[in-house]
Amino acid sequence: MDEQKLSELYSRISKHSQYQLPALDIVGLVEGNMEIIHQHYERERLDFLLRKINVEGKRVLDIGGNTGYFSFELLNSGARSVAFYEGNEDHAEFVREAAELLNLSGKIKVHSQYFSFTDNDTHSEYDIVLLLNVLHHVGDDYGEKFRTISSAKSEIIRELIFASEKGEYVFFQLGFNWHGDRNMPLFANGTKSEMISFVQDGIKDYCDILHVGIAERDESSGTITYNEPTCWNIKRDDSIGEFLNRPLFILRNKFFA
Ligand SMILES: C[S@@+](CC[C@H](N)C(=O)[O-])C[C@H]1O[C@@H](n2cnc3c(N)ncnc32)[C@H](O)[C@@H]1O
Repeated sequence: MDEQKLSELYSRISKHSQYQLPALDIVGLVEGNMEIIHQHYERERLDFLLRKINVEGKRVLDIGGNTGYFSFELLNSGARSVAFYEGNEDHAEFVREAAELLNLSGKIKVHSQYFSFTDNDTHSEYDIVLLLNVLHHVGDDYGEKFRTISSAKSEIIRELIFASEKGEYVFFQLGFNWHGDRNMPLFANGTKSEMISFVQDGIKDYCDILHVGIAERDESSGTITYNEPTCWNIKRDDSIGEFLNRPLFILRNKFFA
């Protein structure tokens, strides 16, 4: 495997290709070869997690890890190990090869498969579960085809609870639209408050919401920072687009000692 091949794998077209920035160490390997098309604020999301949770020595489960930005960066920040699940074979191969080039194969175990949220998945224990922007794809990227938005929403909660049983903390993010289709909104008014209530009500017997991160844009510099909710930032803000309206959740399983 050479660096050219790594760039080629990164660029292979799929529905979720070039979704994430490459992790910093990977940019160093293939600098100049990669074209980043989309912007999903990986650095800003990671920054929120690192401000709230000490990841030193933690075992991470990354479900739907795409091209591994969070997995590699958490290892860089001191996490002990990562179990990486990615249903797209090209993305999973990219992460496997990048891990080899970075001599991290011993720390990151790549599972090139869709996580099924059933007992057939991992039986290991983790400290931090990453479940970012996966569950609104239920019945589309993976899983049974649900007929109604309300049955999909029940399944989203079931899968979130299932994931929360795998580790102490869950770093969670959800899109506002089922399958990413704006004709299938999950919430009547598309507001952050509706999403927060949905998560809170659904998980309350299993998890506490420790932190919620809301994107704020600094008007002069244009930079984005995720901060705790306030009466100002909680309002739906169409000027920053649907993705930045998605809250970040840090959940803690109630039953971890
Ligand atoms: C929208 S992207 C989000 C990527 C990343 N989690 C983030 O937020 O930056 C969703 C990714 O999850 C993968 N995926 C979707 N459902 C999955 C599942 N059940 N198990 C593993 N990977 C999944 C897709 O192939 C895609 O790479």
